[in-house]
Amino acid sequence: MLANTLLAVAALTSAAQAHFGVDYPPMRVDSFEDPYNQYLRPCAGANTTNNRTEWPLDGGSVVLELHHPTDYIFVNLGLGSDVTTFNISLTPNFFNNTGNGTLCLPKFPIPAGVQIQDGTNASIQVVTVNHAGNALYNCADIVFRTSATILSGDACMNTTSGPLFAVQDQTELLKSTGNNTAGDKPSSAVHGSSVHILTASLTVILAMVVASGLL
Ligand SMILES: *[C@@H]1O[C@H](CO)[C@@H](O)[C@H](O)[C@H]1NC(C)=O
Ligand SMILES: *[C@@H]1O[C@H](CO)[C@@H](O)[C@H](O)[C@H]1NC(C)=O
Ligand SMILES: *[C@@H]1O[C@H](CO)[C@@H](O)[C@H](O)[C@H]1NC(C)=O
Ligand SMILES: *[C@@H]1O[C@H](CO)[C@@H](O)[C@H](O)[C@H]1NC(C)=O
Ligand SMILES: *[C@@H]1O[C@H](CO)[C@@H](O)[C@H](O)[C@H]1NC(C)=O
Ligand SMILES: *[C@@H]1O[C@H](CO)[C@@H](O)[C@H](O)[C@H]1NC(C)=O
Ligand SMILES: *[C@@H]1O[C@H](CO)[C@@H](O)[C@H](O)[C@H]1NC(C)=O
Ligand SMILES: *[C@@H]1O[C@H](CO)[C@@H](O)[C@H](O)[C@H]1NC(C)=O
Repeated sequence: MLANTLLAVAALTSAAQAHFGVDYPPMRVDSFEDPYNQYLRPCAGANTTNNRTEWPLDGGSVVLELHHPTDYIFVNLGLGSDVTTFNISLTPNFFNNTGNGTLCLPKFPIPAGVQIQDGTNASIQVVTVNHAGNALYNCADIVFRTSATILSGDACMNTTSGPLFAVQDQTELLKSTGNNTAGDKPSSAVHGSSVHILTASLTVILAMVVASGLL
């Protein structure tokens, strides 16, 4: 009995460690529990939208609970009330995070040209990828509101121990040094849900910049 309980606790602990949570905007469901499965894209098997959190029109905050020593992090946006395509990347330079704990990114700016107004429904997809290339997914539902604000103070704190870098494509750097053998592809080569191109992107990485300067 005790052995079974210990096994169950061990299984729970390892399951929790192999997953991540989105504290804000609150994720659709508790995807740590059955029947959900964070390995399933696009939204861990949580197919229907849930309570919407109000986000400012020019972009809002995301708070993550990270359990891995390191993670690559992508945040994508899909417009509409029942989103199936998360094709707007909010992390054209995706993140390389070190250290588990809470990570609050106060503001993900909405890219220029994306049409948003008061009352626009949308969903956010967060993808974390470990260094072996395994991806985990969670989604949260939002509505854009002029009255909404970004998180601050106690609601937006970091407890992760390590640095966060934005991973940058080397193409622009190669251009600036006159070495363009990587071709003319745009530097924002990472689009929503296209985690399969992560490996390709990683091969062309030359530089990392500290994300706090960008956000
Ligand atoms: C979500 O949709 C997928 C694909 O249609 C389906 O296999 C899965 O059972 C659904 N998940 C839930 C929890 O309803
Ligand atoms: C949605 O919001 C209602 C009212 O605040 C709450 O009772 C319910 O638990 C929420 N549902 C989820 C899945 O968070
Ligand atoms: C994203 O997908 C939607 C639905 O498929 C489509 O209408 C929209 O044009 C796409 N947007 C971008 C930026 O690709
Ligand atoms: C991510 O950061 C870790 C250090 O925390 C480093 O070892 C690794 O090379 C970085 N990955 C990329 C793609 O920059
Ligand atoms: C972070 O990882 C360490 C070592 O695995 C673990 O003891 C600790 O509980 C983790 N903390 C969080 C917040 O996940
Ligand atoms: C946004 O979604 C809610 C349900 O979550 C729905 O009641 C509302 O009509 C939707 N708004 C628009 C503009 O489609
Ligand atoms: C340009 O970059 C490629 C790939 O990194 C390298 O093999 C080549 O030597 C570089 N050429 C010059 C002129 O720096
Ligand atoms: C958390 O850390 C990231 C990376 O350093 C930084 O961009 C962000 O502003 C920090 N959040 C807070 C609330 O300080």
